[in-house]
Amino acid sequence: MDNQQERVLSGMRPSGRLHLGNYFGALKNWVDLQEGYRCFFFVADLHALTTDYADTEDIQDLILEMAVDWMASGLDPERSTIFVQSQVPEHAELHLLFSMITPLGWLERVPSYKEQQQELSNVDLDTYGFLGYPLLQTADIVIYKAHWVPVGVDQVAHIELSREVVRRFHHITKTQVFPEPRPRLTEIPKLPGTDGRKMSKSYENAIYLGDEGETLRQKLMTMMTDPARKRRNDPGNPDVCPVYDLHNVFSSAEELKWASEGCRSAGIGCVDCKKVLHKNMAGYLEPIQERRQKFLSDPDAVRDILREGSRKAREEAQKTLAEAKAAMHL
Ligand code: TRP
Ligand code: SF4
Repeated sequence: MDNQQERVLSGMRPSGRLHLGNYFGALKNWVDLQEGYRCFFFVADLHALTTDYADTEDIQDLILEMAVDWMASGLDPERSTIFVQSQVPEHAELHLLFSMITPLGWLERVPSYKEQQQELSNVDLDTYGFLGYPLLQTADIVIYKAHWVPVGVDQVAHIELSREVVRRFHHITKTQVFPEPRPRLTEIPKLPGTDGRKMSKSYENAIYLGDEGETLRQKLMTMMTDPARKRRNDPGNPDVCPVYDLHNVFSSAEELKWASEGCRSAGIGCVDCKKVLHKNMAGYLEPIQERRQKFLSDPDAVRDILREGSRKAREEAQKTLAEAKAAMHL
């Protein structure tokens, strides 16, 4: 494949253990991209500081737990460069160079800026660092000369800003140091949490990659169903049932047919329906959980992988930073 030369980069803020929403929304896509691209994946710990600057005591644990789930899911340090943002200080230096050329208005107009300030009203986000969030993200991406950035739709405005900053840098310096990165969107299955809302750590409705045994069973057995199906004899509607959304991800075509017909005719009960989902989900997660246990039992090995990945990433970042500085006659 001639896209072997093309580069993919993405990052996640260190949020600790990952849930099925993180997995199907991003991670699985990253794992698949390793097949055809030169990939860089990193833990965005500096980005975590933009909002959680007053609350960093757990950050090393969160980084480690997330890296464990990455590798348990199939991110492979032999194929991808997996690293920690703050271990590559060149990101911060390129961010500084970009900060010199970026008009304030560009950053103030990024939709997530005002949105997040309103949403996280309990934190003072009237900070210099928070305004610069998408500019640090720009540095993250272009310091590896990435062509593709697999992200969710919520991040597209940030990639758009990256492209504008790259163009301005080239215009001002009369050079062509960076490719213009593009967002890489993939179809994401609908993945509600146990209360029917979007799966999210902060809603406490998440099913984690590490959930097994009684924990997983309990979460599914108490999961919300079609609210109109109150009794076993009431027919239900799988189209409005969050359990059925999960069936769509984990169950076979025959099982889907069985569940949907049985639901509509009241031929099966919700417990029967959930048991099949549980069997399929547990089966899907089993190999991930096996690898997870292996990594969790040897955290030093995981830290070594991140250190080695960061060393490799740094070599790339240093080359690009040298070009960017030269373009500015530094
Ligand atoms: N902003 C991203 C998020 O919240 C995380 C991130 C930081 C990122 N730097 C990046 C994603 C660079 C892609 C590329 O999810
Ligand atoms: Fe949902 Fe299945 Fe119950 Fe129908 S039978 S309401 S699809 S859990």
